[in-house]
Amino acid sequence: VSQEPRGRGVEDRVAALELAAEARARDLQVALDRQTALLHELDHRVKNNLQLISSLMLMQARRAEDPAVREALVGMQARLAAVGVVHRRLFQEGDIGRFDLADFVRDLTAELSGPAGRPEVVFVCDLAPTLVASAKAAPLALLINELLTNALRHAFPDRRPGKVFVRIAASGRDLRIEIADDGVGEAGGRAIDGGSEQRFGLTIVELLGRQLQAHIVREDAHPGVRVTLSLPLEGVREEP
Ligand SMILES: Nc1ncnc2c1ncn2[C@@H]1O[C@H](COP(=O)(O)OP(=O)(O)OP(=O)(O)O)[C@@H](O)[C@H]1O
Ligand SMILES: [Mg+2]
Repeated sequence: VSQEPRGRGVEDRVAALELAAEARARDLQVALDRQTALLHELDHRVKNNLQLISSLMLMQARRAEDPAVREALVGMQARLAAVGVVHRRLFQEGDIGRFDLADFVRDLTAELSGPAGRPEVVFVCDLAPTLVASAKAAPLALLINELLTNALRHAFPDRRPGKVFVRIAASGRDLRIEIADDGVGEAGGRAIDGGSEQRFGLTIVELLGRQLQAHIVREDAHPGVRVTLSLPLEGVREEP
């Protein structure tokens, strides 16, 4: 380090550098504020657009005379709501881009067993915290949504009480998701539904499962139905 006395020249240079650094910090702050504002705007636009589509579906459902059409539209609205929950979690203040599947399932089960859902059905959850990449959040959430709503809609007819078990765990290189109920089982459900099954829900499960490279097993659990999904953690996990 040179020992030259700090003449005016040096002091001026230091002052100029400090000014430049301050100006740079101000520019960066302005750019950051603009990005943050854009992100909020995007968040609002997506939320409003989802809301708009949902309202259109509701309008059409109200007008539909065919009960099957009405039911299909109401069903799609529920799926849209699940995408809305994913979006809300992804854009949560201070945690943008983070999506914990366990948190999502906790939200969804709380909603499904709330006063507007099926309070007489108890969810038994064993959920390991599982951060997933934002691109995988919606397909995983939709898939789980189908299986949980199926359990609620078909496993416990006549509002009989029952249990739905949800487990999320890492097992070796796989993520394992298990959803089971102690209800009437596949055969029982179909008999009660009078064979008028639509099977769009399970089609969604199959399609999204393929997209996620999941291995899916649906089986009779005596009592009830059990669905086990295993998918490679590598493809699902959030990139560090
Ligand atoms: N947990 C369950 N317990 C009993 N039966 C079930 C269960 N899950 C599915 N099923 C049966 O499988 C059928 C197909 O399910 P799927 O989700 O494809 O269609 P859906 O639930 O009837 O209609 P949606 O297209 O609205 O989902 C159901 O109609 C029901 O009979
Ligand atoms: Mg279904």
